[in-house]
Amino acid sequence: MKRTGYCGTWRAAHVGQTVTVAGWIHRRRDHGGLVFIDLRDYTGMIQIVIHPEASTELEAMAHVLRSEDVCEVTGLIEKRPPETENKQLPTGQVELLAASVHRLNAAKTPPFVLDEAETVAEPVRLKYRYLDLRRPAMQANLRLRHRVTTLIRDYLNGQGFIEIETPILTKSTPEGARDYLVPSRIYPGRFFALPQSPQLYKQILMVGGCDRYYQIARCFRDEDLRADRQPEFTQVDLELSFTDQEEIFALMEGLMGRLFREVVSRPLTTPFRRLTYQEAMSRYGSDKPDLRFGVELHDVGAIVKGSGFAVFDRALEQRGVVNGIKAPGLAKLSRRELDEWTQAAIGWGAKGLAWIKVTADGYDSPIAKFLPADRLQRLRAEFDAKPGDLLLFVADAEAVAHAVLGQLRLKIGGLLGVTKSDQMAFCWVTDFPLLARDEDGKRLVAMHHPFTRPVDDDLQWLDSEPLRVRAQAYDLVLNGSELGGGSLRIYQRELQQRMFDILGVSPERAGERFGFLLEAFEYGTPPHGGIALGLDRLVMILAGAESLREVIAFPKTQRAVCPLTDAPGEIDRQQWDELHLRIDAAT
Ligand code: AMO
Ligand code: AMP
Repeated sequence: MKRTGYCGTWRAAHVGQTVTVAGWIHRRRDHGGLVFIDLRDYTGMIQIVIHPEASTELEAMAHVLRSEDVCEVTGLIEKRPPETENKQLPTGQVELLAASVHRLNAAKTPPFVLDEAETVAEPVRLKYRYLDLRRPAMQANLRLRHRVTTLIRDYLNGQGFIEIETPILTKSTPEGARDYLVPSRIYPGRFFALPQSPQLYKQILMVGGCDRYYQIARCFRDEDLRADRQPEFTQVDLELSFTDQEEIFALMEGLMGRLFREVVSRPLTTPFRRLTYQEAMSRYGSDKPDLRFGVELHDVGAIVKGSGFAVFDRALEQRGVVNGIKAPGLAKLSRRELDEWTQAAIGWGAKGLAWIKVTADGYDSPIAKFLPADRLQRLRAEFDAKPGDLLLFVADAEAVAHAVLGQLRLKIGGLLGVTKSDQMAFCWVTDFPLLARDEDGKRLVAMHHPFTRPVDDDLQWLDSEPLRVRAQAYDLVLNGSELGGGSLRIYQRELQQRMFDILGVSPERAGERFGFLLEAFEYGTPPHGGIALGLDRLVMILAGAESLREVIAFPKTQRAVCPLTDAPGEIDRQQWDELHLRIDAAT
């Protein structure tokens, strides 16, 4: 018998119907004379009642069935006696009186009880992902993700975009991470790189006259992993010809508006707030500010200058800054806790952390004794601090002060409980610097990527003061998480070549890596720009999940392995030979 309906769909209105259902045994309870089974599929559960005495087959079945066996059951939908109704279950008013039960497949005892999966170590959940995926929470996440991608396609199709696939076996794209490489069998010593993004292809598509492209694109980056990063992840990647920033912002705001309204019934207010990079850094200490709460950074250099407190004076003399932040109501933190905060600040690069607790009768602080009373009063006024508030200060180079206070700000937000709120605080961060210094401060690197167009008015500084040049680049930020990033692109060969020069990419190397792009630019390139959204991050936020792994069917662990398949795995001797590879004996 083929099933006539899903497990979770039966209601009082179906009483009296003979139906067939199929699914997994969630639970079996033996009540002496009667055996109850909860049969489950992705839609929910139905209670099945077996009277073992009704037939020898039923009697045999009633005693062998175990959790996760796959069964098909035919029987009559009956109303439950009122005292046995289950209000927690949508099917709780009815039950299925079994006439026949077929066990289609017996299951071994599962390594964990599905209802308790939340307490199971994640590698175990990932190793037995097929069991984990049967849980309603995982089903809900995957189905949410499907609704999101369906809606994105529908929206972009309606805006004149076409979906185009770009290669996975490709050349390296500079998005700043390490490449995953694939050795070529046919050309010894040569490698494909898996794309870090479809960046170059989508630009070539614009040269190719495709006008508006999108792709739900898989990207690969061999980088250090965190809860919001995977080595293999998905972008909603798009590119438009003859466009500008306003058009891209409006397009994305329209998309977010529809997604939040139609997928999670949350209307959004558009347009989104905009902050320049400079403003985001100086007010929130981050280029992805969490705007669910205030707690802004203040530059208090003018107040503490010449106060005699050596730590502050020295920083200011060395062209640094003194910045502070108010933690409302957190004067209750103990000294031990503040020592921990200081250690955390040092871990983020600060030399120390100065704090002042505002109390009913003055100040409690290791630095108050170094600061004259009028300065303390002015600091207090600057932050509008009340008794019970805590003030924190970092004296350092501006970038360090911003970064450290930006982190402390998030810690404060956590303690204030804002990260638990269900607000959706979107913003655009604009006017990123075009260039930054690399870690050892020697070379210039592209802040976004080397194809980003500088702000026209800033081109004059490209050679003399390159760090002053702003880019036509933007990020979409939601609740302190970078949801997407993009830019308008360089579309003239000369300017692109100049960018490579500034980045220290020799003409030979530029030719070898990006010659095809430079050449394409010589054949009539429309001005173009685009953006890529992190789909996994978007779905994670929509699902209210804590980790990307909750919204990816088969994710990698923090250590970049797949516990289900055990990838990366060994390869055969013959494959080593065919690929012309030798492992370094020293490793
Ligand atoms: P970018 O590198 O900013 O831009 O990436 C765009 C968005 O992709 C998401 N993302 C990730 N998600 C999960 N795991 C990762 N390891 C990961 N890395 C990035 C983020 C990020 O905002 N080619 C450009 C886009 C463009 O210019 O159009 C690019 O890839 O949400
Ligand atoms: P010190 O004079 O080094 O003992 O520091 C006095 C106080 O100032 C301590 O609480 C330090 O944590 C703090 N402190 C030291 N250096 C800095 C700094 N660069 N910025 C902010 N506070 C600091």
